[in-house]
Amino acid sequence: MNTILKAENVGKSFAGENGESRVLQNISFTVEKGEFVSIMGPSGSGKSTLLYCVSGMDTVSEGRVEFCGQDLSRCGDEIRSDLRRTRMGFVFQQPSLLKNLNVLDNIMLIALRENKKDAAAIQSRAMALMEKAGIAALADRGIDSLSGGQLQRAGVCRALMCAPEILFGDEPTGALNSSAAQEVMEMFRRVNAAGTAILLVTHDAKIAAQSERVILMRDGGIADDISLGRYQGGALEERTARVDRATRAIGI
Ligand SMILES: Nc1ncnc2c1ncn2[C@@H]1O[C@H](COP(=O)(O)OP(=O)(O)OP(=O)(O)O)[C@@H](O)[C@H]1O
Ligand SMILES: [Mg+2]
Repeated sequence: MNTILKAENVGKSFAGENGESRVLQNISFTVEKGEFVSIMGPSGSGKSTLLYCVSGMDTVSEGRVEFCGQDLSRCGDEIRSDLRRTRMGFVFQQPSLLKNLNVLDNIMLIALRENKKDAAAIQSRAMALMEKAGIAALADRGIDSLSGGQLQRAGVCRALMCAPEILFGDEPTGALNSSAAQEVMEMFRRVNAAGTAILLVTHDAKIAAQSERVILMRDGGIADDISLGRYQGGALEERTARVDRATRAIGI
């Protein structure tokens, strides 16, 4: 397989009132092209910090991160931000769409800012993504009139506009009820089936159980890394139970 993301002995410290606090230590893992990996762990264990470090949103204090062979720890801010804009997608717990734009314009906004000339192609890509997400009929609606699940699916469409090689999610289903969470998750699975790698932080074992691999974090390190194999649909109970057992086994 081809490695898309590689973290090698990554460490991260923040300066605080009482000196430096080390939030990540000795983290090494890879994500292969098209792989679907979840990260679980207790609150404060460093999941978001890790996601920011490996996506180049933040810099590491120790070790290195490679994205498609490029050392993110060495390339400058500008190259890192280019990579994020053109080859990575991001989805957070709150989709943070603009209230004064309709759903379609929100999804197109960043892509249009990049390339004003291709407005027609951008619009048809946005509509195609919305169609697949089941929200095409909402294109002209103001975002205040959407449910949390519909908003998040719009957020995923926006993240997919640049056809990213990897999609990063920091608890994208964390604020949703279980059926809306499952709809967003099914969207992630379709995106992944079409070849995009996914690195997804979640607190929900049933969500993590639908990925191929689950990295378990504790106290800023990797406590376990379990391979579930690709989820082909169907009953999830056994996979979810495996994730639950693995988290219990390391005391989280
Ligand atoms: N910018 C920062 N400055 C100082 N400390 C930080 C900063 N960002 C995170 N931390 C600390 O790093 C630790 C890990 O935080 P992080 O947000 O990565 O945890 P998390 O696993 O994502 O938690 P949650 O599940 O609650 O989102 C916490 O103790 C947090 O207070
Ligand atoms: Mg977090």
